[in-house]
Amino acid sequence: MAFPLTRMRRLRATAGLRGLVRETDLRAGQLALPLFVAEPGAFAAGSAAEREPIATMPGVERLSLSAALAEAEQAAAAGIAAVLLFGVPADKDAEGSSAWDEEGIVQLATRAIKRAVPGLLVITDVCLCEYTSHGHCGVLREDAGGELASVDNDATLELLARVACSHARAGADVVAPSDMMDGRVGAIREALDGEGFAHTPILAYSAKFASAFYGPFREAAGSAPAFGDRRGYQLDPANGREAVREALLDVQEGADMVMVKPALAYGDLIRAVKRATRLPVAAYNVSGEYAMVKAAAAAGYLDERAAVLEILTSLRRAGADTIITYHAKDAARWLAEQT
Ligand code: PBG
Repeated sequence: MAFPLTRMRRLRATAGLRGLVRETDLRAGQLALPLFVAEPGAFAAGSAAEREPIATMPGVERLSLSAALAEAEQAAAAGIAAVLLFGVPADKDAEGSSAWDEEGIVQLATRAIKRAVPGLLVITDVCLCEYTSHGHCGVLREDAGGELASVDNDATLELLARVACSHARAGADVVAPSDMMDGRVGAIREALDGEGFAHTPILAYSAKFASAFYGPFREAAGSAPAFGDRRGYQLDPANGREAVREALLDVQEGADMVMVKPALAYGDLIRAVKRATRLPVAAYNVSGEYAMVKAAAAAGYLDERAAVLEILTSLRRAGADTIITYHAKDAARWLAEQT
């Protein structure tokens, strides 16, 4: 049945009809807000600082413990499901040992948030790059000449497991390894189970690509690699089948949820990973994607509110169950105004 019997515009005529046939919903309860929690000694302005703007991410700040708590309370009040915590430590070393410090900033923030806002989920990023002096996501192996060369996969696994357990002890609801080492989900699952955290879910950054869109994050977290890049462990943006394989391996190792990251240029993989794994899928709308929208909106090139809601809806349409986004607070407010 073609035109004129079929007229697609009939069901687009009014807001009521459009609402009746809308295929995709977007709710604050599907969003997670990343927070950068900094140790007092990590603030450029001095240890009394509460908040420090991040130049490349307008509207996002490095937060003290008490400022992070205030953000978490606001996020919960807005109906946002979760915060995703990243630590900015004062001290770094070759192993990233402050990542598993029981009194580390992520551990302190997790305890404080769970105490003050128990209904808000705390997801913790499990990685070493913010904590290592060289900025890589694992410990380095020396080459024949004694130079620090490549990331040592197997030696890193035990350290990641320590980090995840310390987060679980602090009360994290979900741990999210983002390092892209082989076997890390299995290593973390085994360690969590061994310490009595059999019920702590793992959200695996399974399809994490070596992306230019992480640039602003690395300034925020001070985690840019001091030499080289992450192409030895993160995925090649050209490879979709390989991304699905990564996700399936993480399922075998015990992942409860899988992630695709970045989000905007990877909608095909959100769909493919969801179909292949049948697990809940999180899409990470990363720092560079946020910065692009903020810059274009500030220049008057596009309408920020409309662009953000369109982007987040498109990620849901692609198949994301959960969206991690720096726009979460604004989006939650705009969604509340709509209804
Ligand atoms: C740590 C990590 C990164 C991001 C999340 N966890 C940076 C990286 O891999 O370089 C990126 C998040 C963003 O860009 O918003 N490994």
